[in-house]
Parts: sequence; C-alpha cells; structure tokens
Amino acid sequence: MWEYSEKVKQHFFDPKNAGAVVDANAVGDVGSLSCGDALRLTLKVNPESERIDEAGFQTFGCGSAIASSSALTELIKGLTLDEALKIDNQDIADFLDGLPPEKMHCSVMGQEALEAAVANYRGEEIVDDHEEGALICKCFAVDDIKVRETVRKHQLSSVEDVTNYTKAGGACSSCHEAIEHILEEELSALGQAFKPAPIAKRKAAANVVQIQDMQVETGESYAPKKKAKLSNLQRMKLVEKTLEGIRPTLQRDHGDVELIEIDGKHINVSLKGACTSCQLADDTLSGLQKALIDALGELVELHVLSEKQQHNLGGL
Ligand code: FES
Repeated sequence: MWEYSEKVKQHFFDPKNAGAVVDANAVGDVGSLSCGDALRLTLKVNPESERIDEAGFQTFGCGSAIASSSALTELIKGLTLDEALKIDNQDIADFLDGLPPEKMHCSVMGQEALEAAVANYRGEEIVDDHEEGALICKCFAVDDIKVRETVRKHQLSSVEDVTNYTKAGGACSSCHEAIEHILEEELSALGQAFKPAPIAKRKAAANVVQIQDMQVETGESYAPKKKAKLSNLQRMKLVEKTLEGIRPTLQRDHGDVELIEIDGKHINVSLKGACTSCQLADDTLSGLQKALIDALGELVELHVLSEKQQHNLGGL
C-alpha cells in the first residue's frame, strides 16, 4: 500500500485554492483525460508587479494530483512569475513532506502547468517538440523525447523510475524494452552502465495491492455536493446501491465488482472475471469512485483488494 504523508492527506481531503480563479489572466493546461490525469491552473497576475495574487486549480486525477495541485497553488501565491518559475516538482513533493515514488508524476504535472500558465500570461508559445518524438508508451501516450528529457532532468536509472515520473510503462508493460533502450543510451552518454531491474517483481507487487487512489475531479463544478449526514446504515445501503447500478455493465463484459467492506472513508472492493485483467479497469474504477462520491456527498477512497487481503479480512 502506498504511504501518504499527513500533509498529502490534508491537501487531498481539504484542498486549498480548488476551482478556477475568477478573471484569471493566465491559464495552464497539462495532461489529458485519456491518460487519466489532467490539470488546469489559473492565475491572477498583477500586471504592475508580475506577482501572483491568486491561484486556483481544477484537476481530474488521483489524490496525489489533487494534493500536488493544492500545494503548488499555496507555494506560488504571492511570488513573482520569475520566482514562481523556480519552483520545481521536488519543491512540490517536499512541501507535502514527500510523495510515494509512484506518484512523482503528479508533482511533475504541477510544474508543467505552472510553466504553461506563465507562458500563457506572457503570450509565449510553449514549443511542443514532443510531436517529433516516436511514441514509446501507447497506454499513456508518452514519446521518446519526454522519456529522454525526464531521464536526464531527474537522473533516472530504471524503468520503474521512468514510470514514476511519466507514467510510461505503468500499464501493459509492452513498452518496457523501449524504455530500457533509452535508459541504456542516456546512461551510456554519461559513461554509466544501465542495469536492467527485475520489472516482473514490481508488476507482481503492484498486483498484490492495487489501490484506485482517490480519483476524483475537483474544482467548483466537481466538488461533491454536500448532503445531509447519513447514518451508517443509510451510507452502507447507498454504497451497495451504487455498486449494484454498475455491476450489470461489468457483467455484460464478463467482469464484476464486489463490495468487501466499508471502513470509514475506505471502500474496499474486489474485481472479478474479465475486470481483473482489463486495461480499462482503472477507468471503470475511476467512474465508480466518482459515482460513490456523488452518491455519498463526501470524498471516499476506493481500494481494490487482492485475494490474499480479502482472506486476511475474513472475506473468503
Ligand atoms: S505501452 Fe506502455 S504501459 Fe502499455
């Protein structure tokens, strides 16, 4: 299970500056919904001093994306644009007392959104040289230029590192060989040898605990609508009803989802049949999580438990 610092949790459950800034004069968009993460940063910049008076964010991403965006807006408020541009993804992670390595791409997304917003304010065009690159990871639409740049900038040395920073290689793994090849070239240019890591080990570990990590949309139009406080029984019934609503769709595709237990904000489920190996399982779970959040009117985490975990809970 990924360990989150208290500060990450605070900024997820109570994000600062969520929503678009009214009358923003700088907007930075990064990511894409098809890759699972997207972030829009809006700024109100004082034209006299070039100071950031207000910063707001809207994101479709996991809990770490929300926390990173919240942290970014807190970090840059009051800074001049030049000062803000010195903030990098490590500063965002440090502000949050660290992020799990697998979630570093969330902080990278924040830094990129900031650069995009400043360029937008200054009327500059960010040159997207990624169009020239060969597609390396089809699952997350990451090309070789992005991988190379990230490897150099953050001195990465393993496929796992690349996945943590870019998401490339984080799904079907068919691009791992291509990523290894890039690492080999980049490290050899630095006079270093690339040592392939046992990727299979990491994938096996990922299957033991697969957490659909608090994936929600935030911002004015997406925050869960507050509802009257529910009794435990009402809450449980609503969770069951929401899951029952989505099961026929999954069953049509020979999959299924089953409620294992509700533990406060943690809703533990197991996936069955085709859902266990489906590459779109993440999308299904994101939709399901959002449906649960909407139904309950509160932020909840959806956890997919392995058979072993279910057994430990007495579920099997
Ligand atoms: S092609 Fe990269 S993870 Fe599937």
